[in-house]
Amino acid sequence: MMRLLAVVALTAAELCPPCFRLQNALHGNRTRQSLRWLHVPKTGSTFQNTVFHWACPGLPHRAGYGPGATPIRFAKLYDGSQLNRTLCDRDVDQTLPGHKPASMDRVDDTVAMFRRPAQRILSAFRDRKHADGFQDRDKAPNWRDLNASGYARHPGIAGCTTRMLLGAKCAHVHQKSEETARATNEAARGGGLPVAKATAVVRRLAFVGLQERWADSICLFHAMLGGAPRKIEFVVAHSRRRRGRDAPLVPAPYDEGRLDGFVDAADEAVYAEAARVFEANLRRFAPDCVS
Ligand SMILES: *[C@@H]1O[C@H](CO)[C@@H](O)[C@H](O)[C@H]1NC(C)=O
Ligand SMILES: *[C@@H]1O[C@H](CO)[C@@H](O)[C@H](O)[C@H]1NC(C)=O
Ligand SMILES: *[C@@H]1O[C@H](CO)[C@@H](O)[C@H](O)[C@H]1NC(C)=O
Repeated sequence: MMRLLAVVALTAAELCPPCFRLQNALHGNRTRQSLRWLHVPKTGSTFQNTVFHWACPGLPHRAGYGPGATPIRFAKLYDGSQLNRTLCDRDVDQTLPGHKPASMDRVDDTVAMFRRPAQRILSAFRDRKHADGFQDRDKAPNWRDLNASGYARHPGIAGCTTRMLLGAKCAHVHQKSEETARATNEAARGGGLPVAKATAVVRRLAFVGLQERWADSICLFHAMLGGAPRKIEFVVAHSRRRRGRDAPLVPAPYDEGRLDGFVDAADEAVYAEAARVFEANLRRFAPDCVS
């Protein structure tokens, strides 16, 4: 037992800066029995590695999703609604595959990554105009020809993160505000969304991470919720971006000029709240990491 703990401690200490103090085997709060992952598109599919390794300490360390991992379909670990008890001692709500919205009765157990809205939208545009929740009838006749700026302004595209926090699909045309939208384009900017409700949800989440601060987010997750981080958790997946040995670990941000000045107001407010919560949690759970 002592030997095992020592090995775990060494790995964790190597992967996270010492300021996270994950060396102590009792770090974090392991009273939580289950989590739910809110997967907002383009905020990092590889975060599933963290969530499932948290629940399943028996998984091989390299098992996971994304580059460098030994492929495993986490969805196959379910035995009914419970995860395989040989490998797992906790549970994760089944939200894979896809992008299930937040569930209002599970907000306190929900974990999520957030990404700067302009970057998230540009990434979604590059990913074949990702529009989870849309049916063909929701798309304007010129959908195929839209550039990034037109895609961001298309009704029902902006405000994805806000909507998912409120329990709706990422892409969704709000019928009521659509009439207003025709005149003012307000709904396309998320103007009709109850942003204050969404930021209140952000404050209740069990964990808030920032895609731009990936490594810090992984370490903070474990400082807060326990469990030892595995190496594969530090990989951020970037679909359709340069891969290989010479690819930069953190790719250059997308050129936001391509949005022609578009601002996703609702998601900006949500992101600002997420960043505030993230910093506050860093100060509280990893005070030595705050410069
Ligand atoms: C640990 O997490 C539970 C929720 O799972 C919470 O009720 C409790 O207050 C937490 N304990 C500490 C010391 O943060
Ligand atoms: C649980 O995992 C173990 C080890 O991989 C495997 O042998 C077993 O068949 C699994 N159980 C179920 C019900 O899938
Ligand atoms: C995007 O398309 C619109 C409409 O065709 C055009 O007015 C705008 O200049 C284009 N923006 C960029 C950045 O190419």
